[in-house]
Amino acid sequence: MPENIVIIGFSGSGKSSVGPALARKLGMSFHDTDVILEKRYRMPVSRIFAQHGEKSFRSSEKELIASLLGELKTGQIMALGGGAFEDRDSRRLVKTRAAVIYLSCSQRELYRRLKDQTDRPLLDSVTGQEIRSDIKRLLHTRRPHYLMADLVVSTTNRTVKETVNEITRKLKTVYDSNKSTS
Ligand code: S3P
Repeated sequence: MPENIVIIGFSGSGKSSVGPALARKLGMSFHDTDVILEKRYRMPVSRIFAQHGEKSFRSSEKELIASLLGELKTGQIMALGGGAFEDRDSRRLVKTRAAVIYLSCSQRELYRRLKDQTDRPLLDSVTGQEIRSDIKRLLHTRRPHYLMADLVVSTTNRTVKETVNEITRKLKTVYDSNKSTS
């Protein structure tokens, strides 16, 4: 298995539920960058955005990723916030230090999962139609970067367990084929 695993994907794709389950299955530690930042700021992400601004959040997020993937740190699974992979430096660092797994999910399913949530500052529109267009707009910009991942696994119509099994199946396929050719 890879030394580290980083899970990326849009809000609601399942990173924070699949990550811990995958870590348990693989005997690795799990780190959710949003959770760590909320502890550091002592407030939810939505209030970090409101009180400190998105720029401050992104700067802290970038520093945290660099810290967690610092030299010699292995055996970690890290779930990044939905926008973290937009930063080129973070993308480059993550790609060199971890296997990157993109949890994809249909826009329809993302809307179903996100429409009643209130803790996503970039998805805080009021009407359903506005949330749908926010999801579409952000996904359009971000998908090209998400698709730079090493593995793409859909969580649409999949349970956490099914997703974890699919990830481990794909990791074994890639990892064993690398081992057998080395
Ligand atoms: C963000 C996604 C959030 C959180 C912040 C910004 C984004 O994380 O980092 O609200 O830019 O899409 P989740 O993907 O866990 O919702």
